[in-house]
Amino acid sequence: MTTTSEVLSPQQLLSFHEDGYLVLPNFVDDGACLTLRERALQLAKDNVPSPQEATIFTADASAQHAADQYFLTSGDKIRCFFEKDAFDENGVLRSEAHLSLNKLGHAMHDLDPVFGAFSRTPQMAAVAQQIGLVDPLLLQSMYIFKQPRIGGEVNSHTDHTFLWTEPQSVIGFWIAIDDATTENGCLWALPGGHRIPVKSRSKLNQSRTATITEVFDKDPYPSEGLVPLEAARGTMVLLNGTLPHRSGPNLSDKPRHAYTVHVIDGQANYLSDNWLQRPHLAMRGFSN
Ligand code: FE2
Repeated sequence: MTTTSEVLSPQQLLSFHEDGYLVLPNFVDDGACLTLRERALQLAKDNVPSPQEATIFTADASAQHAADQYFLTSGDKIRCFFEKDAFDENGVLRSEAHLSLNKLGHAMHDLDPVFGAFSRTPQMAAVAQQIGLVDPLLLQSMYIFKQPRIGGEVNSHTDHTFLWTEPQSVIGFWIAIDDATTENGCLWALPGGHRIPVKSRSKLNQSRTATITEVFDKDPYPSEGLVPLEAARGTMVLLNGTLPHRSGPNLSDKPRHAYTVHVIDGQANYLSDNWLQRPHLAMRGFSN
């Protein structure tokens, strides 16, 4: 029996530090997941941008979204990002907007009470404390739809590349809202890969109108050795910020909703040229 202050066993902590990730089945109950799911669909309907505003959000190599102010100014807002394949060759949505979204981002945890409550449970706070975050701050939230048939692949990357602190402190709290399998695009991670020095950093250019990539090592992360992290609804996957991970496309007819909160340590320095800035919304911890 664990207490709220000790959610992770010594073995689980060891495993997290050894592998760079940890899979925690049944971390959130089904009811809470379904409440969040319903709320996400409502937020999607409420926040669909006009066609002129719409950003087609893809994470593949040809993505052009980074230059779009809609994306770069979303750090302290609730915004919608669409799948590339959600649009036909004339740029018209193939189906209803809320069924065509890649994700919602990036401050639902601070701006929406349902997301806020889901993100700030005593269990989440305990995990953050146990893995060594001294002053945890909830930097970013994403609700990822990974829609049937059109949900795109996310290439191998580390979160530290995009959410840089010195020293590195970002931790991903990823929660399966639907069952995630190899068929509908579950996470894949490289065990122990968090010890590989991070190969690049994405940051704002001088005019802060787009992101540029600073490359430290041009060799890609190993493509062999990644393991699938299949996760039933309510499973939480913790990801060290320097762990290479990816997710496949959703080729199935089942949705694969997931929710991620990225947490940093307030004792580390969050760099001012990271793409995500929150000029109108101070970061908060789990209890304040
Ligand atoms: Fe990631």
